Amino acid sequence: MHLSVRKATEDDCKLLFDWANEPEVRKASFSTEKIEWLGHTNWFFQKLKNPNSLILILEADGSPAGLIRFDKDTEQNYFLISFLLDEKFRGMSLGTTLISKGLAYLSSGQQGPIVCVGFVKKENIASQRAFYKNEFLLESESDDNLKFIKTIE
Ligand SMILES: CC(C)(COP(=O)(O)OP(=O)(O)OC[C@H]1O[C@@H](n2cnc3c(N)ncnc32)[C@H](O)[C@@H]1OP(=O)(O)O)[C@@H](O)C(=O)NCCC(=O)NCCS
Repeated sequence: MHLSVRKATEDDCKLLFDWANEPEVRKASFSTEKIEWLGHTNWFFQKLKNPNSLILILEADGSPAGLIRFDKDTEQNYFLISFLLDEKFRGMSLGTTLISKGLAYLSSGQQGPIVCVGFVKKENIASQRAFYKNEFLLESESDDNLKFIKTIE
C-alpha cells in the first residue's frame, strides 16, 4: 500500500465533516457532541486560511485514509496534534505512520526545534500506542487524559 500525505483543500470539506461525526471519532474527542454542517464549514475554511494551522490528508493508494492536524499555539510555541483514520483503515497501526508522515511534512517546512503535543483520553490505547511508537514522551496525566510531547530538533 502506497501511503502519502498532502495538504487538505476546500474539496475535503465534506470528507472531514463525515470523519468528524463518525462515532469513534466523537468518542475520542474532548467535546463529544455531534458537529453541525454550518459550524463545520465555517471552522474548516477558517482553518485552511490560518497560517498557524496545517491539515494533512493521508492517502492510501490514492484514497483518503485519514487526517492529521497541527494547530500552533503561538503563546506557548507548540503544535497541538489531532488525528484520525477512516474506519476502513483502522486496525493496521496506520496511526503510527500517519503521525510520522505528518511530523516529517511539518518539520520540512519549519526552522529550528519544533515541539508537538497530543492529548489522549486514557481509554484510547491505540492512539497512545501511535504516540509512543513515534517517540513521544508522556509528560503528564490528569483524571481522564494523557499529555504526550515530542521535540524535533
Ligand atoms: C487512534 C487511531 C488513529 C488508531 O488507529 P490504528 O493505528 O488503526 O490503531 P490500531 O487498532 O492498529 O492499534 C494501534 C496499536 O495499539 C494497539 N492496541 C489497540 N487497542 C489496544 C488495546 N485495547 N490494548 C492494547 N493494545 C491495543 C494495537 O495492537 C496496535 O499495536 P501495534 O502498533 O504495536 O501493532 C484510530 O483508532 C482512530 O481514528 N480513532 C478515532 C479517532 C482518534 O481516536 N483519534 C486520536 C485522538 S487523540
